[in-house]
Amino acid sequence: MRIAMIGTGYVGLVSGTCFSEFGLDVVCVDMDEGKIDRLKQGEILIFEPGLDQLVKTNAASGRLSFSTDLKSAVKDADAVFIAVGTPSRRGDGHADLSYVYAAAEEIAHAIDGYTVIVTKSTVPVGTGREVQRIIKETRPDANFDVVSNPEFLREGSAINDFMRPDRVVIGAETDRAKEIMRQLYRVLYIIETPILFTSLETSELIKYAANTFLAAKITFINEVADLCEKVGADVHDVAKGIGLDGRIGKKFLHPGPGYGGSCFPKDALALVKTAQDYGSPLRIIETVVDINDKRKTAMADRIMAACGGSVDGKTVAILGLTFKPNTDDMRDSPSLAIVSALLDAGATIKAYDPEGMDEAKRMMPDVIYCEDTYATMDGADVLVIVTEWNEFRSLDFARIKGLLSAPILVDLRNIYTPEDLAQAGFSYHCIGRATRKPGPR
Ligand code: UDX
Repeated sequence: MRIAMIGTGYVGLVSGTCFSEFGLDVVCVDMDEGKIDRLKQGEILIFEPGLDQLVKTNAASGRLSFSTDLKSAVKDADAVFIAVGTPSRRGDGHADLSYVYAAAEEIAHAIDGYTVIVTKSTVPVGTGREVQRIIKETRPDANFDVVSNPEFLREGSAINDFMRPDRVVIGAETDRAKEIMRQLYRVLYIIETPILFTSLETSELIKYAANTFLAAKITFINEVADLCEKVGADVHDVAKGIGLDGRIGKKFLHPGPGYGGSCFPKDALALVKTAQDYGSPLRIIETVVDINDKRKTAMADRIMAACGGSVDGKTVAILGLTFKPNTDDMRDSPSLAIVSALLDAGATIKAYDPEGMDEAKRMMPDVIYCEDTYATMDGADVLVIVTEWNEFRSLDFARIKGLLSAPILVDLRNIYTPEDLAQAGFSYHCIGRATRKPGPR
């Protein structure tokens, strides 16, 4: 079996590499020559644990290659995956599908013999149908089927998510297409992964429904956390208490500064738009989007409150800038809203992130970037943990006391406990665990 993967962004590169690890022949295609040259030399442009090694071994075995030549890659392929970007349209929220449609047209010109065209990019309901129409119109003689096969890859654990998924969703409507897809995922049949065959539209919607459900779950626990602070409850015990109910489940109930990243914010907005377009609004997701946006900025208010009401003229030390650990991705990271609000309030910001600083420097040029954890705190008035990287989990608080002007820690990921920090002599502020006397307003 041969696959052409169009687009070597996050999804395309991880999926293409993992398919080659399954034993398939994969050509990853991108129009960006510089990118392809670097990939050919084994240079991975994104930070994803384990990916570089997997690219190296599969490229060396000859199963994985990189090319700018879409035509030859598609001509020889049994299946062509479209994994190009679908960014939010500026000021709108609809997914921008121009790259998907351009790829469909180019693929149409290159098809030779029966080919399955698979949308891997996250695309709104109806996109697969439109890809079908474009290919038919461009090449009336083409022998093909369009399939939807959404990804459920989490940054930082994408390889494991691909190799050992909870399920694979395939929107395919002919037996021939289903058979090809079955062969591509043959390795997962052996480990009894549930594989769900649906219509095109259903598969497309499953992806959005899954992501927005998870975004809603996080937003729910974030609001419960705020209430916990007011009534004197502990959000982690509440999460455990509800999560043990199999109907609710334990995962994605960790409170924090609001969800970010390349998927949840964009997909939630896009689903809201689709639902509005079809006259069937998803008010619950509209609310989730609104709450999450406001929550990020509200984190800056917490930091100001921890500093006695104002950060004007003060220095805030921030640990962690990426939207979550084990990635260099800064897209829609809570740190962006927090830093912006603190700068507006007159603070000086010192920051450190293990992988995200190159990108952060471009997005937030007014921050002082430091070379390590402790250099960040030197001379600062408050310490804030925004992203829960492992290296921030065992800080030396005696040393920190000597670096900060006052021992104040705002822990937006709850990686420490109020008891330990009280013992260390810190004024400790966290999420959803009352550190002050509760009561109604
Ligand atoms: C997500 C989906 O999980 C994945 O299936 C999809 O295909 C792509 O989008 P990703 O964006 O990589 O993956 O990260 P994820 O681990 O889901 O976290 C998203 C955001 O939610 C992060 O900002 C994270 O900090 C936040 N989060 C997650 C919480 O605040 N609490 C939680 O309990 C879980």
